[in-house]
Amino acid sequence: MKLKNIGAVIGAGMLVCALGLVGCSGNDGASSASSSAADGSAATEEATLVNDGKLTVAASLDFPPFENLEGEEAVGFEVDLMKALAEQMGLEADYLPSTKFDTIIPLITAGGQADVGVSGFTVTEDRKKEIDFTDVIIDSNQGVVVMPGSGYTSVDDLEGKRIATQSGTTGYDWAVENIPGADVIPYDEMTAVFAALQGNQADAIVADLPVVQYYVNTAYTDMEVMAEIPTGEQYAIVVSKDNPALTQQLNEALAELKANGTYDEIYEKWFGASAE
Ligand code: ARG
Repeated sequence: MKLKNIGAVIGAGMLVCALGLVGCSGNDGASSASSSAADGSAATEEATLVNDGKLTVAASLDFPPFENLEGEEAVGFEVDLMKALAEQMGLEADYLPSTKFDTIIPLITAGGQADVGVSGFTVTEDRKKEIDFTDVIIDSNQGVVVMPGSGYTSVDDLEGKRIATQSGTTGYDWAVENIPGADVIPYDEMTAVFAALQGNQADAIVADLPVVQYYVNTAYTDMEVMAEIPTGEQYAIVVSKDNPALTQQLNEALAELKANGTYDEIYEKWFGASAE
């Protein structure tokens, strides 16, 4: 649109308001002018934040060892990383109460509630149409979990079976696309995914390998990871397309944490081995 090349954020915002092109209520509490155009084309030069001094994070806190609840507190690899990134940027990481995974991207797109979505988000081309991703923070794959004694020993055995997955995830998509005739059932939370297998409402689980491995090692020790599927996924932080300066600052902070050893420390704390 015509306003694309207007450099000054405030100037662009005011002009957009004056022309009545977008709603200009300005009630989102943003710490710098952020009346971005409806098509996301405003030339934002400064990162905007929903709360001053804070990096507000929306996360589905059901995904250990990346993010999980310990009592009231968010803990995990990505939680520690977000705290370190925020600190590097002179901010404080502030986690919202756990948010249903498949509502996080719409929440970031809508704006005004959280600055970033961090929940083991796999970078996908489809998602890139709606939001921006930072640089990659870690690699992942899919895993298949069954009850021992089920007789399922390969993915081929799951044809036409009931597969528990988390709603809106790459695991759901993978199961739909790769297990012929399967009844792929989406659940809101990872805990419900595991409860479904335990309660015989499903024959297998498909979800991110590090997470199913963690659940099987700690809580559901009666289950087994039957297969690892090398999907070659990569996690990154979800940022609004209206906030490119924030994406850039996060990338700079991430590069710094990788260079100064902080990233490796956090990696070792949660995964026990060196990141590279
Ligand atoms: N990596 C998968 C995806 O991006 C699953 C992420 C689920 N995250 C969660 N916190 N439950 O679709």
